[in-house]
Amino acid sequence: MSSDIFARIQQSLEAIKAAIIENETELEAFRIKYLGSKNELKELFGEIKNVDNSRKKEFGQLVNELKETAEKIYESHKLAQPGTEKDVNNANLDMSAPCEPILSGSRHPVSIVMNRIIQIFERIGFTIAEEREIEDDWHNFTAMNTPEDHPARDMQDTFYLKDSNTQLLRTHTSSVQARIMTTQAPPIRIIAPGRVYRNETISSRSHCQFHQVEGLYIDTNVSFADMKQTLLYFAREMYGEDTEIRLRPSFFPFTEPSAEMDVYWGLNNEDDYRITKGTGWLEILGCGMVDPEVLINCGIDPKIYSGFAFGMGIERQAMLQYKITDIRQLFENDTRFLKQFIGVI
Ligand code: DAH
Repeated sequence: MSSDIFARIQQSLEAIKAAIIENETELEAFRIKYLGSKNELKELFGEIKNVDNSRKKEFGQLVNELKETAEKIYESHKLAQPGTEKDVNNANLDMSAPCEPILSGSRHPVSIVMNRIIQIFERIGFTIAEEREIEDDWHNFTAMNTPEDHPARDMQDTFYLKDSNTQLLRTHTSSVQARIMTTQAPPIRIIAPGRVYRNETISSRSHCQFHQVEGLYIDTNVSFADMKQTLLYFAREMYGEDTEIRLRPSFFPFTEPSAEMDVYWGLNNEDDYRITKGTGWLEILGCGMVDPEVLINCGIDPKIYSGFAFGMGIERQAMLQYKITDIRQLFENDTRFLKQFIGVI
């Protein structure tokens, strides 16, 4: 009798190993047969009473082994069913099923314009200098020849850090000029893109944070004509090869002489009249020859070196380029607005 039962165990083992499981129904049938509440193995185990005492232990071990084998086979097939990790290897995948749409992001218009400006200057040998947004007033004002009683330092314009008279959020990227000139020897040829802050009332035309790109070129024999040519090259790369520029005398504490550069925008439609105030010209940047006082402040000998600098706002150029009428849209992260720039690089 006992040997009969041992033969049945052997048969069951072979049957389990040979079971064909190719889909969920077959897997479920396997589970019921070998692992369900009324499974075959239980019935077999019930036969233990008919086994010779001397072989009861051996019998118990074999039945357990049988159960474990059934469990392993079941688990390995379960993993291979749709919706599980091993699914990729499963031939049941429907490769023609429509996939979830992949949402692609977009570059921010400020980044698009900033990157274009950077690329234009990189082509003529300017390297990028990035510096801190939290500055001290020496780099932001004093070194840049802006005296202590200058209105630009006023609490109205500048965000000072809490409990500090000296630490502030930089009001312009010109602070990077001082950072670079005090740490690098000429020749210097850098552009400094970055965010700046001013304590201004937020409106459709101005914001308390915006972006600038600063330029600085220091070497022997750098002239005003070099600056003019560099800026003309920039304007034509940025706004088209026929673009005309003009330089108007201006004042900045850190340059002498100083100028503002306009590009000719044209007067082709009503919008042009409005944004150029009827002149056709648009102001793009401030510039000038670095004031010798600034060179001295930063440890550069003005008898040997001269240089030019310029600084431009990015938001205004982005607004012109993309006909954005309210600067606040650039800072609100409204995806309906940002989506329009998908694919623009
Ligand atoms: N820092 C000036 C501003 O924020 C812009 C500027 C003007 C920068 C003339 C310059 C410059 O480097 O030469 O309004």
